[in-house]
Amino acid sequence: RKPITLQGLLDRHARGEKIAMLTCYDASFATLLDDAGVDALLVGDSLGNVLQGEASTVPVALEHMVYHTRCVARGRRNAWLLADLPFGSYQTTPEAAMLAAVELHKAGAQMVKLEGGGWTTETVRFISQRGIPVCAHLGLTPQTVTALSGFKVQGRDAAGAAKLKADALALQEAGAQMLVLELVPSALAADITQALSIPVIGIGAGPDCSGQVLVLHDMLDLSSGRRPRFVKNFMQGASSVQDAVRRYVGEVQAGTFPHPELHGY
Ligand code: KIV
Ligand code: NA
Repeated sequence: RKPITLQGLLDRHARGEKIAMLTCYDASFATLLDDAGVDALLVGDSLGNVLQGEASTVPVALEHMVYHTRCVARGRRNAWLLADLPFGSYQTTPEAAMLAAVELHKAGAQMVKLEGGGWTTETVRFISQRGIPVCAHLGLTPQTVTALSGFKVQGRDAAGAAKLKADALALQEAGAQMLVLELVPSALAADITQALSIPVIGIGAGPDCSGQVLVLHDMLDLSSGRRPRFVKNFMQGASSVQDAVRRYVGEVQAGTFPHPELHGY
Protein backbone atom coordinates (compact mmCIF):
# COMPACT_ATOMS: atom_id res chain seq x y z
CA ARG A 1 0.00 0.00 0.00
CA LYS A 2 1.21 3.52 -0.78
CA PRO A 3 0.94 6.43 1.68
CA ILE A 4 -2.58 7.86 1.63
CA THR A 5 -2.66 11.54 0.65
CA LEU A 6 -5.50 14.00 1.07
CA GLN A 7 -6.20 13.76 -2.67
CA GLY A 8 -6.08 9.99 -2.41
CA LEU A 9 -8.69 10.04 0.34
CA LEU A 10 -10.94 12.43 -1.58
CA ASP A 11 -10.58 10.31 -4.75
CA ARG A 12 -11.63 7.21 -2.83
CA HIS A 13 -14.62 9.05 -1.48
CA ALA A 14 -15.49 10.22 -5.02
CA ARG A 15 -15.42 6.57 -6.16
CA GLY A 16 -17.88 5.70 -3.41
CA GLU A 17 -15.40 3.67 -1.36
CA LYS A 18 -15.97 3.80 2.39
CA ILE A 19 -13.26 5.14 4.69
CA ALA A 20 -12.32 3.09 7.78
CA MET A 21 -10.92 5.19 10.63
CA LEU A 22 -9.95 4.24 14.18
CA THR A 23 -8.52 6.20 17.05
CA CYS A 24 -4.88 5.50 17.88
CA TYR A 25 -2.61 6.81 20.59
CA ASP A 26 0.73 5.01 20.33
CA ALA A 27 3.31 3.67 17.89
CA SER A 28 2.62 -0.06 18.38
CA PHE A 29 -1.05 0.27 17.56
CA ALA A 30 -0.29 2.70 14.74
CA THR A 31 1.76 0.03 12.95
CA LEU A 32 -0.77 -2.72 13.74
CA LEU A 33 -3.78 -0.70 12.54
CA ASP A 34 -1.95 0.53 9.48
CA ASP A 35 -0.89 -3.00 8.50
CA ALA A 36 -4.48 -4.19 9.03
CA GLY A 37 -5.65 -1.72 6.37
CA VAL A 38 -7.12 1.12 8.42
CA ASP A 39 -7.36 4.17 6.13
CA ALA A 40 -7.08 6.91 8.72
CA LEU A 41 -5.77 7.07 12.29
CA LEU A 42 -7.22 9.67 14.65
CA VAL A 43 -5.22 10.74 17.67
CA GLY A 44 -8.44 11.57 19.48
CA ASP A 45 -8.69 13.59 22.63
CA SER A 46 -10.64 10.53 23.80
CA LEU A 47 -7.18 9.66 25.11
CA GLY A 48 -8.30 11.72 28.11
CA ASN A 49 -10.84 9.01 28.92
CA VAL A 50 -9.07 5.97 27.54
CA LEU A 51 -5.44 6.57 28.57
CA GLN A 52 -5.63 9.17 31.30
CA GLY A 53 -8.71 7.98 33.18
CA GLU A 54 -10.39 11.37 33.09
CA ALA A 55 -14.19 11.61 33.16
CA SER A 56 -14.23 13.72 29.97
CA THR A 57 -11.96 15.10 27.24
CA VAL A 58 -12.02 18.58 28.80
CA PRO A 59 -8.79 18.25 30.86
CA VAL A 60 -6.67 17.10 27.87
CA ALA A 61 -3.79 19.51 27.15
CA LEU A 62 -2.22 20.39 23.83
CA GLU A 63 1.11 18.95 25.02
CA HIS A 64 -0.59 15.58 25.59
CA MET A 65 -1.98 15.64 22.04
CA VAL A 66 1.42 16.58 20.63
CA TYR A 67 3.12 13.75 22.54
CA HIS A 68 0.68 11.08 21.37
CA THR A 69 0.62 12.43 17.81
CA ARG A 70 4.39 12.06 17.69
CA CYS A 71 4.15 8.48 19.00
CA VAL A 72 1.54 7.55 16.37
CA ALA A 73 3.44 9.32 13.59
CA ARG A 74 6.50 7.17 14.31
CA GLY A 75 4.53 3.93 14.03
CA ARG A 76 2.35 4.91 11.10
CA ARG A 77 3.28 3.73 7.61
CA ASN A 78 0.60 4.68 5.07
CA ALA A 79 -2.60 5.67 6.86
CA TRP A 80 -3.85 9.26 6.89
CA LEU A 81 -3.13 10.83 10.29
CA LEU A 82 -5.50 13.22 12.08
CA ALA A 83 -5.19 14.74 15.55
CA ASP A 84 -7.72 16.54 17.72
CA LEU A 85 -7.28 20.12 18.82
CA PRO A 86 -8.03 19.84 22.55
CA PHE A 87 -10.53 21.96 24.45
CA GLY A 88 -9.22 25.47 25.03
CA SER A 89 -6.69 25.41 22.19
CA TYR A 90 -8.99 26.83 19.47
CA GLN A 91 -11.90 28.54 21.24
CA THR A 92 -10.36 31.98 21.83
CA THR A 93 -9.13 33.19 18.42
CA PRO A 94 -8.23 31.80 14.98
CA GLU A 95 -4.63 32.83 15.70
CA ALA A 96 -4.51 30.75 18.88
CA ALA A 97 -6.08 27.85 17.00
CA MET A 98 -3.47 28.16 14.24
CA LEU A 99 -0.60 28.03 16.73
CA ALA A 100 -2.05 24.85 18.25
CA ALA A 101 -2.65 23.33 14.80
CA VAL A 102 0.97 24.09 13.88
CA GLU A 103 2.16 22.15 16.96
CA LEU A 104 0.10 19.11 15.95
CA HIS A 105 1.14 19.40 12.30
CA LYS A 106 4.82 19.57 13.27
CA ALA A 107 4.31 16.48 15.43
CA GLY A 108 3.06 14.61 12.35
CA ALA A 109 -0.69 15.25 12.10
CA GLN A 110 -1.73 15.68 8.46
CA MET A 111 -5.13 17.04 9.44
CA VAL A 112 -6.44 18.65 12.61
CA LYS A 113 -9.96 18.14 13.93
CA LEU A 114 -11.99 20.62 15.94
CA GLU A 115 -15.48 20.44 17.40
CA GLY A 116 -18.31 22.87 16.95
CA GLY A 117 -20.84 24.53 14.70
CA GLY A 118 -21.05 27.80 12.84
CA TRP A 119 -18.85 29.71 15.25
CA THR A 120 -15.84 27.63 14.12
CA THR A 121 -16.13 28.50 10.41
CA GLU A 122 -13.79 31.49 10.74
CA THR A 123 -11.20 29.29 12.46
CA VAL A 124 -11.59 26.47 9.93
CA ARG A 125 -11.03 28.97 7.11
CA PHE A 126 -8.04 30.53 8.87
CA ILE A 127 -6.23 27.22 9.44
CA SER A 128 -7.05 25.57 6.12
CA GLN A 129 -6.04 28.65 4.10
CA ARG A 130 -2.68 28.55 5.86
CA GLY A 131 -1.92 25.04 4.77
CA ILE A 132 -3.16 22.59 7.37
CA PRO A 133 -6.13 20.43 6.33
CA VAL A 134 -9.05 20.58 8.76
CA CYS A 135 -11.71 18.07 9.80
CA ALA A 136 -14.86 19.48 11.42
CA HIS A 137 -16.86 17.62 14.09
CA LEU A 138 -20.61 18.08 14.62
CA GLY A 139 -23.44 16.39 16.50
CA LEU A 140 -22.47 15.24 19.98
CA THR A 141 -19.31 17.20 20.67
CA PRO A 142 -17.72 15.61 23.77
CA GLN A 143 -15.69 18.70 24.71
CA THR A 144 -18.93 20.59 25.36
CA VAL A 145 -20.80 17.76 27.08
CA THR A 146 -21.34 20.02 30.11
CA ALA A 147 -23.27 22.57 28.05
CA LEU A 148 -25.11 19.77 26.19
CA SER A 149 -26.21 18.23 29.54
CA GLY A 150 -24.89 14.77 28.73
CA PHE A 151 -24.17 12.28 25.95
CA LYS A 152 -27.41 12.51 24.01
CA VAL A 153 -28.35 12.02 20.37
CA GLN A 154 -28.24 15.41 18.63
CA GLY A 155 -30.46 16.79 15.85
CA ARG A 156 -33.55 14.78 16.80
CA ASP A 157 -36.05 17.59 16.17
CA ALA A 158 -36.55 19.46 12.89
CA ALA A 159 -34.93 22.68 14.10
CA GLY A 160 -31.89 20.85 15.48
CA ALA A 161 -31.54 18.83 12.29
CA ALA A 162 -31.75 21.93 10.08
CA LYS A 163 -29.13 23.68 12.22
CA LEU A 164 -26.77 20.70 11.97
CA LYS A 165 -27.10 20.55 8.19
CA ALA A 166 -26.59 24.29 7.80
CA ASP A 167 -23.48 24.11 10.01
CA ALA A 168 -22.11 21.20 7.97
CA LEU A 169 -22.54 23.10 4.72
CA ALA A 170 -20.98 26.23 6.23
CA LEU A 171 -17.96 24.27 7.48
CA GLN A 172 -17.43 22.68 4.06
CA GLU A 173 -17.69 26.13 2.47
CA ALA A 174 -15.12 27.42 4.99
CA GLY A 175 -12.62 24.82 3.82
CA ALA A 176 -13.15 21.74 6.00
CA GLN A 177 -12.12 18.69 3.98
CA MET A 178 -13.70 16.09 6.21
CA LEU A 179 -16.52 16.02 8.77
CA VAL A 180 -17.05 13.74 11.73
CA LEU A 181 -20.72 13.33 12.69
CA GLU A 182 -21.23 11.89 16.16
CA LEU A 183 -24.45 10.56 17.68
CA VAL A 184 -27.07 11.80 15.25
CA PRO A 185 -30.10 10.00 13.74
CA SER A 186 -29.13 7.81 10.76
CA ALA A 187 -31.57 9.59 8.43
CA LEU A 188 -30.07 13.00 9.23
CA ALA A 189 -26.52 11.69 8.75
CA ALA A 190 -27.54 10.22 5.38
CA ASP A 191 -29.08 13.54 4.34
CA ILE A 192 -25.98 15.53 5.37
CA THR A 193 -23.64 13.03 3.65
CA GLN A 194 -25.67 13.41 0.45
CA ALA A 195 -25.60 17.20 0.69
CA LEU A 196 -21.82 17.48 1.17
CA SER A 197 -19.03 16.72 -1.28
CA ILE A 198 -16.41 16.10 1.44
CA PRO A 199 -16.29 12.72 3.22
CA VAL A 200 -18.53 12.44 6.29
CA ILE A 201 -17.20 10.00 8.89
CA GLY A 202 -19.85 8.71 11.25
CA ILE A 203 -19.77 7.46 14.83
CA GLY A 204 -23.23 6.58 16.05
CA ALA A 205 -24.54 8.14 12.83
CA GLY A 206 -25.79 5.08 10.95
CA PRO A 207 -24.58 3.21 7.87
CA ASP A 208 -25.02 5.89 5.19
CA CYS A 209 -21.96 8.05 5.91
CA SER A 210 -18.82 8.08 3.74
CA GLY A 211 -16.90 6.19 6.40
CA GLN A 212 -16.83 5.22 10.07
CA VAL A 213 -14.72 5.84 13.15
CA LEU A 214 -14.69 4.10 16.52
CA VAL A 215 -12.60 4.47 19.63
CA LEU A 216 -10.02 1.67 19.43
CA HIS A 217 -10.47 0.52 23.02
CA ASP A 218 -14.26 0.34 22.54
CA MET A 219 -14.14 -1.89 19.45
CA LEU A 220 -11.50 -4.11 21.08
CA ASP A 221 -13.76 -4.39 24.16
CA LEU A 222 -11.06 -2.96 26.44
CA SER A 223 -13.23 -0.16 27.82
CA SER A 224 -14.92 -0.57 31.17
CA GLY A 225 -18.48 0.46 31.83
CA ARG A 226 -21.49 0.40 29.58
CA ARG A 227 -20.80 0.04 25.88
CA PRO A 228 -22.70 2.62 23.81
CA ARG A 229 -25.20 1.16 21.34
CA PHE A 230 -23.18 2.22 18.28
CA VAL A 231 -20.06 0.28 19.36
CA LYS A 232 -19.51 -3.24 18.08
CA ASN A 233 -17.14 -5.58 19.89
CA PHE A 234 -14.93 -6.78 17.03
CA MET A 235 -12.94 -9.05 19.37
CA GLN A 236 -15.94 -11.36 19.57
CA GLY A 237 -15.09 -14.29 17.33
CA ALA A 238 -11.73 -12.79 16.32
CA SER A 239 -8.53 -14.81 16.62
CA SER A 240 -6.32 -11.81 17.43
CA VAL A 241 -6.33 -8.02 17.71
CA GLN A 242 -5.09 -7.88 14.10
CA ASP A 243 -7.99 -10.08 13.02
CA ALA A 244 -10.51 -7.88 14.89
CA VAL A 245 -9.17 -4.75 13.18
CA ARG A 246 -9.19 -6.46 9.77
CA ARG A 247 -12.83 -7.43 10.34
CA TYR A 248 -13.67 -3.83 11.23
CA VAL A 249 -12.02 -2.54 8.06
CA GLY A 250 -13.77 -5.21 5.99
CA GLU A 251 -17.20 -4.50 7.46
CA VAL A 252 -16.87 -0.73 7.06
CA GLN A 253 -15.71 -1.12 3.45
CA ALA A 254 -18.50 -3.58 2.69
CA GLY A 255 -21.08 -1.34 4.36
CA THR A 256 -22.14 -4.08 6.80
CA PHE A 257 -21.01 -2.11 9.87
CA PRO A 258 -22.78 -0.24 11.30
CA HIS A 259 -25.99 -2.26 11.20
CA PRO A 260 -29.00 0.06 10.69
CA GLU A 261 -31.04 -1.36 13.58
CA LEU A 262 -28.38 -2.61 16.00
CA HIS A 263 -26.04 0.39 15.92
CA GLY A 264 -28.15 3.29 14.62
CA TYR A 265 -30.60 5.84 16.05
O1 KIV B 1 -11.56 11.76 20.36
C1 KIV B 1 -12.13 10.89 19.66
O2 KIV B 1 -11.96 9.68 19.82
C2 KIV B 1 -13.02 11.36 18.60
C3 KIV B 1 -13.78 10.32 17.82
C4 KIV B 1 -14.73 9.60 18.67
C5 KIV B 1 -14.43 10.90 16.61
O3 KIV B 1 -13.12 12.53 18.39
NA1 NA C 1 -12.24 13.87 19.97
